[in-house]
Amino acid sequence: MQPEQRTNLSPETRDAIGEVFHLYDPPLWLVTARVGNRRGGLIATAVTRASIVAELPRMLIAIAKHHCTWQLIESAGRFALHLLPSDDLETVWRFGLASGHRRDKFAGLVWSETPDGNPMHEGALSWLDCRVEQRMDIGDRAVYLGEVVGGAVSHRAPVLTVGILLRDSPPERKAELKRLYAQDQAIDAAAIRAWRGADQAS
Ligand SMILES: Cc1cc2nc3c(=O)[nH]c(=O)nc-3n(C[C@H](O)[C@H](O)[C@H](O)COP(=O)(O)O)c2cc1C
Repeated sequence: MQPEQRTNLSPETRDAIGEVFHLYDPPLWLVTARVGNRRGGLIATAVTRASIVAELPRMLIAIAKHHCTWQLIESAGRFALHLLPSDDLETVWRFGLASGHRRDKFAGLVWSETPDGNPMHEGALSWLDCRVEQRMDIGDRAVYLGEVVGGAVSHRAPVLTVGILLRDSPPERKAELKRLYAQDQAIDAAAIRAWRGADQAS
């Protein structure tokens, strides 16, 4: 797309678009991956079922390239997806607020491995093993198409969603979530603009 075709969104339009994203309540997924003895994971909402064919299940995820988990998925070519129980905010603090660049997020946690060798969070409701079939670089994130090669429901309970997270977070955690969201927005905005610039030059 040429630069002159790009739209500068007015504040009103941005607010209206933002409102659309608040009409639904996405689940929080725990995405894990492992390379040798390096294991990691993060919390993601950008996770979608990408196939309705029962014998060919596929998932799409979008992972920011500055995250430690992105490095692990890039190297391993596989990842696991977990849904969490609605009261498991501790897992969000552990995997969604800190970066694995600085610490082992699994330290002190009960975990095992999925059949495909990804870290499995024992407290999760379910797990899916995915192998990367295709990747797309979109500047700030890498979008992965994962072939689902295994999975199961471990416990049955209501699923943790963004709405529940925001409702049940104590004020100091909510402030931390807000701060990190703004930090990621700035990093992502710069990466998208750089990518678009490179895209236009080619
Ligand atoms: C509610 C919520 C949703 C998130 N969704 C995503 C997402 O879809 N993709 C992504 O790359 N990061 C997402 N994040 C950010 C990562 O979970 C977070 O930055 C994490 O600490 C990265 O860890 P890592 O550097 O160890 O990979 C989300 C965080 C929260 C709290």
